[in-house]
Amino acid sequence: MSISRRLSPFGVTIFTEMTDLAAAHDAINLGQGFPDWDGPDFVKEAAVRSMEGGHDQYPASPGIPELRAALAERYGPLLGRELSPGSEITVTSGCTEALTAAFLGLIDPGNEVILIEPYYDSYPVGLALVDAVPRYVTLRPPDFRLDSDELRAAFSPKTRAIVVNTPHNPTGHVFDRSELETIAGLCHTYDAVAITDEVYEDIVFEPQHTRLATIDGMWDRTITLSSIGKTYSLTGWKVGWAIGPPPLTAGLRAAHQFLTFTTPTPVQHGAVAAVGAPDEFYAELRASYRSRRDLLVDGLAAAGLSPFRPQGTYFVMADHTAFGFSDDRAFCRHLIEKVGVAAIPPSVFYHRPEDGASLVRFAFCKDENTLREAVDRLSRL
Ligand SMILES: Cc1ncc(COP(=O)(O)O)c(C=O)c1O
Repeated sequence: MSISRRLSPFGVTIFTEMTDLAAAHDAINLGQGFPDWDGPDFVKEAAVRSMEGGHDQYPASPGIPELRAALAERYGPLLGRELSPGSEITVTSGCTEALTAAFLGLIDPGNEVILIEPYYDSYPVGLALVDAVPRYVTLRPPDFRLDSDELRAAFSPKTRAIVVNTPHNPTGHVFDRSELETIAGLCHTYDAVAITDEVYEDIVFEPQHTRLATIDGMWDRTITLSSIGKTYSLTGWKVGWAIGPPPLTAGLRAAHQFLTFTTPTPVQHGAVAAVGAPDEFYAELRASYRSRRDLLVDGLAAAGLSPFRPQGTYFVMADHTAFGFSDDRAFCRHLIEKVGVAAIPPSVFYHRPEDGASLVRFAFCKDENTLREAVDRLSRL
């Protein structure tokens, strides 16, 4: 008995590996990206009311009507168009399921798909599930901007799709309009679709978050994915969604109906309350993450690392080479065992691990006291 040929190259995720090591050494875990506080009461109360109200059976496969209506109301203005909950919005079990459903429903074996690296680690696995061929384009420090020549070289007549994660994990880069226009132009030239992963859409500090689907002509070829995990600090609830034109939605739903069929009803009712949060909620979220970002970035610099201040997300990348370790794994092991802080070695997010060997990723979705204690420990470096 063994793991299938398709999945055996991928092993255990780095998050499990580093979290286990952190626990063994009682290290402060700035590795995995989940907040160490609870989600909002008004969302939890809505889910409890749903459970008490007898919503125990299968909901509609594309999501409860109330949530699709709430998503249409929130995203209509953001995408600059009226959205049809019936044919353009699908609720999924987290963005992860939306990604897999998009790959299964829109990509054929042998199609080429462009991944921007460092990438979220589920992308290459998702492409392996559909026998697609990944083509990589690399973002490089210090600003992690998209190199338009490299991107152009990655497109070909075999390109079916590009996956665009903005704000970008792990670099914290927020793609600006000119980068998105370059992507849009190439999608038009090669008749490719864009699958956007925007789970950090509300954690943006410097520029505005621009949505690829709003760039001229891109609505028809973009499926926009997100979830409640990051914005509402509910990563364990796994409620996500996909918004796109009816033909792309039909492809995604063709997979979704057999992948999970649907998402648990009580958390969908909770999500209705979440996406209906007032504007102040989002402003407070940004302000609180901005002060956490500055605390950690300044602490990393004081400890002798060279951090790259993120424009969005709750991650910061830093260069560790001043400390003379052979690579990012050796540095992260030292950090956990001798300093008492866990981080993620980002070489796992590159198809050529050496491209990420000089970097280390820290998460700042943690209580400020925890971050202060981590910064204090980092001074031992
Ligand atoms: C870029 C990116 N996409 C997707 C996800 C997963 O989202 P969800 O928990 O909604 O499946 C994450 C979680 O860390 C992420 O960083």
